[in-house]
Formats: sequence, structure tokens, C-alpha cells
Amino acid sequence: MPRTVTTYVCQNCGAQSRQFFGRCSSCGSWNSLVEQSSGPPPDGRRRRQSAPAAEPTPRRSEAMAAVGERAVQRLGTGFDELDRVLGGGLVPGSLVLVGGDPGIGKSTLLLQTAADLAQRQSVLYVSAEESAQQVKLRWQRLAAAGGGGDGPQLLAETDLEQVLQELEALRPDVAVIDSIQALHDADLSSAPGSVAQVRECAASLQRLAKKLDIALLLVGHVTKEGMLAGPKVLEHLVDAVLTFEGDRFASHRLLRAVKNRFGATHELGVFEMRDRGLLEVSNPSELFLGSPEGSVGMATIVACEGTRPLVVELQALVSTTSYASPRRMATGIGTNRLHQILAVLEKHLGLPLSRFDCYLAVAGGLEVEEPAADLGVAAAVVASFRDLALPAGTVLVGELGLGGQLRPVGQLELRLQEAARLGFRRAVVPKGSGVSCPELVIQEASGIAEALVAALGVNPADD
Ligand code: TYD
Ligand code: MG
Repeated sequence: MPRTVTTYVCQNCGAQSRQFFGRCSSCGSWNSLVEQSSGPPPDGRRRRQSAPAAEPTPRRSEAMAAVGERAVQRLGTGFDELDRVLGGGLVPGSLVLVGGDPGIGKSTLLLQTAADLAQRQSVLYVSAEESAQQVKLRWQRLAAAGGGGDGPQLLAETDLEQVLQELEALRPDVAVIDSIQALHDADLSSAPGSVAQVRECAASLQRLAKKLDIALLLVGHVTKEGMLAGPKVLEHLVDAVLTFEGDRFASHRLLRAVKNRFGATHELGVFEMRDRGLLEVSNPSELFLGSPEGSVGMATIVACEGTRPLVVELQALVSTTSYASPRRMATGIGTNRLHQILAVLEKHLGLPLSRFDCYLAVAGGLEVEEPAADLGVAAAVVASFRDLALPAGTVLVGELGLGGQLRPVGQLELRLQEAARLGFRRAVVPKGSGVSCPELVIQEASGIAEALVAALGVNPADD
């Protein structure tokens, strides 16, 4: 008689325990454990034990050099931005998870992609969240729908078994599942969207997709904290994880690769949400260059997302504090990074910034994580503190060390070329970078004081 094993699975992190706890011992979330019963262990384990020892098992591995090569023909999605983030197009038989906040445009992106792909390949669009009529309404609204042809095959279904059967029957080149959390495996007792369901549905889809060489695009939801909902195994299972993000109040959307087995991560794709669907933005720097050049407390940097340079504007506001401890607020840049730069400026230039509030913002709602923005942050802060405007047409790139020295940054040439393309004429960069860019006057500096003198034209340490 097979024994039924009861385990409790945390719906937040997927941790399992044999005992019920009110609080998950792994991730600390409350009331997240759900009972799950499972039958006997999979028969594979028993079969292995009972296999006769005398019979030699045939060898299945082969030498690396002997493994046959197969030319992978990547599928173009119709969006250059999406192709770049995927590493050059969609790989047949791969699993791609697209995550993002509700309403950010995941369904729109994938429906447009499906529409374009359907002109060359067979495509199945499985809508588990919206009815066929709702998808049709969206389809009619999209400019891509005018592309001709019948469009993709549409299946509005939440039952995993039906979806698998349709995939078997149709054997499409590409399938979109919108969304993995809305699919439901009737063999499991837990509710759709629970850890067990998401894991099982994704694993079943993956097995079939690899067998039939279908490229699968899965939509995934994110939790309040911005993590992909469902177990971590989902991220391990798929070949690529893309996140679609953006400010819901602004129209631009950013697509990033967080994991990619077939290309570089941290590639960035930029889109704009219009009333007739998503449009790609091929010159995103223009999106992040806000106010007219040369205003007080503003500096321009060139950030790099993957291989993509972005000219971005930073704005700082430094004002006398009325609090016991001054306020520091940063939007788009880590607050700790700002604290560190302020401390360096105070120590090495003698600026009394600890008596001033300091606000910093990156234009366009972009997040800049890389330290190459340090010099720009420092220049914006000092410019606001001294009520100065940086000369127009200047970009600043450099990492700031704790000793006040400027450190070289990667991909400098690429960054400077982008700045030159947008009409910038001068760049302040760390010493020893050894780059040349004929369109720009390049000023090298070894420390923060020297860099600021070069950028502002006056010594910020002088009163
Ligand atoms: P949607 O793709 O449904 O988001 P998700 O699948 O990530 O939840 O996008 C919905 C939002 O996009 C909705 O607020 C309306 C807006 N939208 C447009 O602005 N233009 C369009 O052409 C479409 C189809 C949607
Ligand atoms: Mg949707």
C-alpha cells in the first residue's frame, strides 16, 4: 500500500517542510505554508533498485568533440529591441519567461510579437487570463494586426492538459502562454498560481517544448516586492528570464534580460506604449535627456546597459537643512552611493555638505546602478551647491574612489561615441583611459578636484 506523504509548501519561496509552521522558516513570511499530499516516490527510483546488476547498461554519453553541431536558426521577433535582449532572436526549443508588474504591457508585447512571427512561422497564443473575445479586441487595437495574414492561432484555456494536447496537435514553432500562473493542472489539488501548480505546469510545458522544438514564451507575474512570483525553480527551469518594467505614469518601457543562456544579460530594450500598442525606441538617449542644457545642478552622464550606451541627465538640489539630520533622497541611484559620494566631497574638497539637504534624480525614471555615474553625481551636487551650471555639451564619466581618485570605467569608447552622436562636444573622463574620439574634446583627470575644475571651469573648493 503506497504511503501518502504530507508536506507543507511555502507559497512565497517554495520551501518544503514536514511540519506546519505559521511562519516559513526559510523566507520568514507568515501564513504562507499550504498542505500538499503526494503519492509514492516516482517509480524511476524503484526501477533502478530492481535492475539486474549483471546486465551492463549501454553507454549514452559521448565525447564533446563528437557531439554533432546543429546550426541554430534564430527566429526574428519583428522587434529589434526584443531580438537584441534575447541575444539575436528567439532560439527554437527555448523557454523564455517574461515577468513584470500587472498592466505594464506583457500581453501587448507578446501579442504583437506573436502577430509578427505568425507571418513567417506557425504560432499558438494561449490566453489563460483573458477570453478569446478580449484578446481579439486587443488584437484589433494593435497596429501590428494590420500586417496581413490570419494572425496566430488562439486558444483561451486554463487547463494544462488541454494546452499540452493542442501543442501536440498543432506543433507550432512558437507558443505564447499568458500566463503561467493562470494555468491549472487538474492532477494537483492546489489552487492555480500556487507554487506546486506553477512548478508542475512549467515543467510539463518544458518537457513538451524540448521534445517538439517549440520556442515557448511564458508570461510570469511579479510579487509586491518585484520578484517573479512562484518558486525559484521556475527561473532555473527556463533558458531566459526577461523583465518588462517602467513607470506606469510614463510611456516608456524597459525590457531587460536577467538571465540568458543564449546571450548576454543586462541587455536593454526600450519601448514606448502608444494607443496602438508598443513601439520600439531605437534612440533611447533622447528619451532621458530632459531639460534644456546648462541649468543649475544638472550634469549629463553616459550610462551603459549591457552593450548599450545611454546618455542620461542627472539633477541635484542642495539646500540648507531645517532638520537635525539632513535629508538625502535619490531617485534612480542608490541612496548609499549618494551618501558615499557626499562623504568624499566633504572630506576631499572640504564642502560642508553635512549641513545641507541633498536630493538627486535621474531624468526619465531610469535606474542607474553602475559606479560610472559617480563623477556625474558629484558634479551635479557641487554645481547645485555652488549655484553653477555646467557648460553646455559636456558629459562626465568616471567612478569615484573613497580616496577621491577617479577610476577608469568599461566601454568608455562606446559611451563617448554615443555622446558625440547626440551632439556633445566635451567629455571629462578618468586619467589613463587612453580613448580617442575625434568629435569630442576629452579632458582627463586623476582626482575629483581636478575633474570638477575641468568640468565647471572654477575650483569648487574655493569660497
Ligand atoms: P497589458 O498588455 O494588458 O499588461 P499586462 O499583460 O502586463 O498586465 O497592458 C495593459 C495596459 O497597456 C493598459 O493599461 C492599457 C495599455 N495599452 C495601451 O496604452 N495601448 C495599447 O495599444 C494597448 C493594447 C494597451
Ligand atoms: Mg496580461
